[in-house]
Amino acid sequence: MKITQLTSGVVLTAALVAIGASVAGAQETLRSLAEERGRYIGAILNSQWFGGGLPGQYEQIHKSEFNVVVAENEMKFDATEPSQNNFNFNNGDKMVNYAKQNGMRARGHALAWHSQVPGWVNNIRGKDQLLAVLKNHIEKTVGHFKGKIDEWDVVNEAVNDDANHGWRSFGSVWFQNIGAEFLDSAFVWAHKADPDAELCYNDYAIEQGIGPGSKAGFVLDQVKRWVANGIPITCVGSQTHVEDVTTAKEFIGAPDSLRHFAKELAKLGIKLNITELDVGFKSGINVSKEDLARQGQVYRQFMDVFLEEPNMGVYLIWGVSDKWSWL
Ligand code: XIL
Repeated sequence: MKITQLTSGVVLTAALVAIGASVAGAQETLRSLAEERGRYIGAILNSQWFGGGLPGQYEQIHKSEFNVVVAENEMKFDATEPSQNNFNFNNGDKMVNYAKQNGMRARGHALAWHSQVPGWVNNIRGKDQLLAVLKNHIEKTVGHFKGKIDEWDVVNEAVNDDANHGWRSFGSVWFQNIGAEFLDSAFVWAHKADPDAELCYNDYAIEQGIGPGSKAGFVLDQVKRWVANGIPITCVGSQTHVEDVTTAKEFIGAPDSLRHFAKELAKLGIKLNITELDVGFKSGINVSKEDLARQGQVYRQFMDVFLEEPNMGVYLIWGVSDKWSWL
């Protein structure tokens, strides 16, 4: 285990505790442990990395500890199609080259999302017009990375937060102009552009369980419908952002809820991935040893679910270090 090589600026403590690794095998890394089990463990490449703004050991640690990668922001709609039909894949290419050179699985994030959409999209009105924009974006983007991106978040965060069991009806240029049809279409277009890529629906609060009015319950119903209708979905991503582990009571039991959800998806032949795991603290608080222990415990519980459920493939944390976390 490479604990001794970590500097104070780069803290993998929680993830290390999570996997329950001992200091025994000198060559053991998170990556080697995952590979022995046929699993993928990963972290974003931070936006600073794309600009060359991270210290040297960041990349070294990223390469040795992880075998799956995703870009924090660089493959989102506003980054890849900043003006209509003018695509910029420079950063995406940088990521897939890095993945290839280092033998990593690559995730693409994200094709149809209400957020980080460039201004020009919001100025387009009309169902057919918006459908054409989304189709073109998906065909060009997935087509460009065909064979290089193993798995796409085709649709991200399309469900409401208001416990009303429904699609996000406010603040989504896609839903407001097209309706729910945009989701089905997005999967079909992505599959056509790269038939070998795995295709996910990705969302947050999934780990809160499939109880009445829950997001996970609604997603499960939709996945059943998609599977029954032959929509080419292969995976669901649970973002799993636990923003404040010291007060977030709702997260007690979350790993068990996620396990239950994984089992439900398994019945449908669908994978579950943990795509953006964070276990954070409210900013500005003094973090105690007990807080860190609880943080490690939560990473560990999600890791147990990940290793024990056969239809889980990816355990991805949203940042190598708390130092550069969006939270
Ligand atoms: C976040 C990035 O980490 C930030 O840098 C950016 O400012 C906003 O987006 N759900 C997602 C991710 O699917 O794309 C988000 O990433 C975090 C929440």
